Amino acid sequence: MPPSFAIYTLGCKANQYDSYSIARELTRSGWRQVDFDDRADAYIVDTCTVTCVADHKSRKIIRRAARRNSDAIVAVTGCAAEWAGPAIQEMTGAEMVVRNRFKDQLPAQLNQLYSQRLGQEMWQGCRDPLETTELPDSFWESLDGSALPDKVRFLLKVQDGCNKFCTYCIIPKVRGRSRSRPVKDIVTEAREIVTHGFREIVLTGIQLGDFGLDLEEGASAFLRLIEELAQVEALVRLRISSILPQDISPDLIALIAASPRICRHLHIPLQSGSDSVLEAMRRGYTSAEFLRLIDKIREAMPGLGLTTDIMVGFPGETEEDFQATLEVAQRARFARTHIFKYSRRPGTLAERLPAHVHEKVKEERSRRMFELSGRLSETFACEILGQPVEVLVETTNAATGFASGYTDTYVRVVIVDGADLQPGGTIEVIPTDWRGDHLVATSCETNG
Ligand code: 5AD
Repeated sequence: MPPSFAIYTLGCKANQYDSYSIARELTRSGWRQVDFDDRADAYIVDTCTVTCVADHKSRKIIRRAARRNSDAIVAVTGCAAEWAGPAIQEMTGAEMVVRNRFKDQLPAQLNQLYSQRLGQEMWQGCRDPLETTELPDSFWESLDGSALPDKVRFLLKVQDGCNKFCTYCIIPKVRGRSRSRPVKDIVTEAREIVTHGFREIVLTGIQLGDFGLDLEEGASAFLRLIEELAQVEALVRLRISSILPQDISPDLIALIAASPRICRHLHIPLQSGSDSVLEAMRRGYTSAEFLRLIDKIREAMPGLGLTTDIMVGFPGETEEDFQATLEVAQRARFARTHIFKYSRRPGTLAERLPAHVHEKVKEERSRRMFELSGRLSETFACEILGQPVEVLVETTNAATGFASGYTDTYVRVVIVDGADLQPGGTIEVIPTDWRGDHLVATSCETNG
């Protein structure tokens, strides 16, 4: 019986790709992936430290793993492990802590530790590590559902690290400066993914706008990457994840607008609508610049789905500043908003600023922002009601008879008579209802 492992991923899309890579390596060397709730020989927790909430959750999951099987190896990696490895080890009793820079060596280290436990040579030792082994089909079948819903949408990491230093953010400290993968490697991986049935690729990184800065080609590599990926055969959609406003060039806008496969969806983190807060955060744009940019994007891409991150309660944020954020959000007509309450991160500049906002005030602002964002989501979704939209089906459920997928503008659509649809296929439907976080449609209402 091959040894089993389970992996839990916290935080960003980049982590989901990292976890996927670890799972792929372990499967290649003979391990079998099981559910995190099952009994496993090894549990891997890929942690996040972007806020204190993420820190807390990371530790909770590590403890949960240890409880599930006290004989299992618990291996911890990711940003919380990078920042506070020894403390985590002490608090949770995790046996292995692997720093971010050695994350790709986690599978080899786990193999070694597991072999020592068994008192054997590297248990997979008959395999030359340089020999490329085909992944067993079971790997593609066992892919973690949360990271890769039904093997339709793939989060492809193209870049890691960040060269921007927003004053609140710990990430450059735990992930280091920006590193880009070579365009050729990324395109090769994209082709492989598509042969396994994936139909959508989400370009993922910690700071996508830094892509190429460390490559010979420079910043223009990003456009070339997108152009090449958009041509991968059998790929239906290419989605670009979070990108800063100052990194969205007219050429990028023109490229997205001209390519039918590139989704009309951008995630542009606003953080705040107050210029003094934006400056204190060192975001590098003003609210007017932000709004001007999205006007330009909308002109080129009617129907654009614009999503964002907003942080409430940054040190010094007044009620007036917060009002400015509500106003800019309203004018920007965000389709979806991730709301973060400012969290002190040790060693950041913002931590030492005066006038930290009281937790109660942060909560209240977060709630008001949440109410507005719900209304904005509804407004955006209702623009689609009664109109034909193309849905890329991701999941079907025989029990409910429902299928579910997304529009290219990133609105979830539930198709109530969709049990027979194929995940990975597209269908045109006319949504008739908005249910708070998704549209509802029936497949027979297609006009095809
Ligand atoms: N406190 C709260 N939210 C934060 N983020 C980054 N650092 C912090 C922090 N110290 C949020 C930002 C970013 C998202 C990924 O995480 O909104 O866009």
